Amino acid sequence: MFSEKDFISKPFSTTIENGSFQWSAPSNIALVKYWGKKENQIPANPSISFTLNHCKTITKLAFTKKQSDGNFSFDLLFEGKPKEDFKPKIQKFLERIEIYCPYLTAYNFTIDTENTFPHSSGIASSASGMAALSMNIMSLEKALNPNMTEDYFYQKASFLARLGSGSACRSVKGSVVVWGKHAEIEDSSDLFGVEFSSNIHTNFKNYQDTILLVDKGEKQVSSTVGHDLMHNHPFAEQRFAQAHQNLSIIKTVLETGNLDEFIKIVESEALTLHAMMMTSLPYFILMKPNTLEIINRIWSYRSKTKIPVCFTLDAGANVHVLYPENVREAVLQFIKDELVGFCQNGNYICDTIGTGAIKIL
Ligand code: DP6
Repeated sequence: MFSEKDFISKPFSTTIENGSFQWSAPSNIALVKYWGKKENQIPANPSISFTLNHCKTITKLAFTKKQSDGNFSFDLLFEGKPKEDFKPKIQKFLERIEIYCPYLTAYNFTIDTENTFPHSSGIASSASGMAALSMNIMSLEKALNPNMTEDYFYQKASFLARLGSGSACRSVKGSVVVWGKHAEIEDSSDLFGVEFSSNIHTNFKNYQDTILLVDKGEKQVSSTVGHDLMHNHPFAEQRFAQAHQNLSIIKTVLETGNLDEFIKIVESEALTLHAMMMTSLPYFILMKPNTLEIINRIWSYRSKTKIPVCFTLDAGANVHVLYPENVREAVLQFIKDELVGFCQNGNYICDTIGTGAIKIL
């Protein structure tokens, strides 16, 4: 069992004057959702996600040694230009991880970041962004401590990413990732994401996720506020218990390839997530009329064609359309014929299951 203390780095004998690293980290889409958390970014229930492939953040971290005065020093560039409004979030993240990475105050950093998806697409970049930054920080730590094992490298990267944004810890390594202690998932932890280790049925190989961009606007309620509203939520305990059960079921589904059962769990999880929002106090709705139109179209297409296509939702109005690779052509045609009209400016993004963060430099 790991504890937080295992991630506090010891003083290093190596020093490095300057250098740079670059990593890409993908977004991920949860099948069983994380919604509700305890102190220090500990999830109220376990979650499981597919890692995406094309939607990612690419971040370069350049560093030069400075006098360690206990303060963080960094410049933040987004697509090559200074971006002041991203700085407070990064500052907060660095403060949160300082105890685990005390060496960070000994450097001046330039963080240069960009996304492969449009910034204003309504696709959250916090998961991929925090994961990409954490990978770079771990590359620096590994340079300072060359004996670090590969397992520790990825575990601590996920641990740090979690402190930036909970779901980011599932964007580090593996195609299917579990975060949060679950009785039937060996080595699962509240502290970091773990790769789902069972054999995944071929039905899920190259599973497709087409993200329909329904609403690109700023969300009225942030995920952080939403998580908070699970405290004293009338259905919280039942919801957390249900997430454990759904994870047990989806574990078997991923092993056996039972797509009907997959669809049931995934759609129920999406609607439950939004039901939690609608039944919190204050209550709120993030779905838009077009979100519902799309869901209804998917349901009637599925019942008419028997093609195993389903939807899931994040904390927003966009719809993730999930389906096996072997029905790709038919489903893309359906999306073009029937769903594109409900997307803002007809925009959607085709993605598939990926494998996690990649070192570029
Ligand atoms: C609905 O990870 O964005 O996407 O930890 O406050 O940064 P913070 O929240 P965040 O919440 C994601 C919630 C979700 C479900 C999920 O990805 O599991």
